[in-house]
Amino acid sequence: MSGATRIISSVSAMEDLGSLLGSKLDAGAVLLLNGGLGAGKTALARGIGRALGISEVTSPTFVISKIYPGRIPLVHVDAYRLIGQELAVFDDLDLELRIPQSVTVIEWGAGFVERLSDTFIEIDIEFGANPDERAVTIKGIEL
Ligand SMILES: Nc1ncnc2c1ncn2[C@@H]1O[C@H](COP(=O)(O)OP(=O)(O)OP(=O)(O)O)[C@@H](O)[C@H]1O
Ligand SMILES: [Mg+2]
Repeated sequence: MSGATRIISSVSAMEDLGSLLGSKLDAGAVLLLNGGLGAGKTALARGIGRALGISEVTSPTFVISKIYPGRIPLVHVDAYRLIGQELAVFDDLDLELRIPQSVTVIEWGAGFVERLSDTFIEIDIEFGANPDERAVTIKGIEL
């Protein structure tokens, strides 16, 4: 499925896009955020969190996943350190147990997300022509 591509020109615009997206999500939503280091995946997740009533989503640096209480709880996963590991390491997180009552956002989750859910929203973030520009493609939901 192809999606609409938006040009996003600042980190605050990325957060606003996340917030718009977050406002459309129900419990059970699973989102895969693709994009290189510093693409803006966490900035987008921060905006999603804002729409769920969560004031500050940070990069889960020392843990693989963080759970934020909100209007709908947000499970924020950074699977970067699981790349190249046995898939069992990911399965051991038992993330699927929380999916029905949460919004689950996974950075660096290509290759993992299918283990959690048959259907998910996929977001690709690419670097643009200048340092603050990103091209964001969203598949699986209409905004
Ligand atoms: N349009 C933009 N959207 C998002 N971030 C931007 C934008 N322009 C500049 N930035 C900067 O890019 C960086 C994005 O960082 P962020 O942690 O969100 O990326 P990330 O994709 O989560 O990286 P990582 O893979 O390391 O987790 C921030 O320093 C932010 O200020
Ligand atoms: Mg990040």
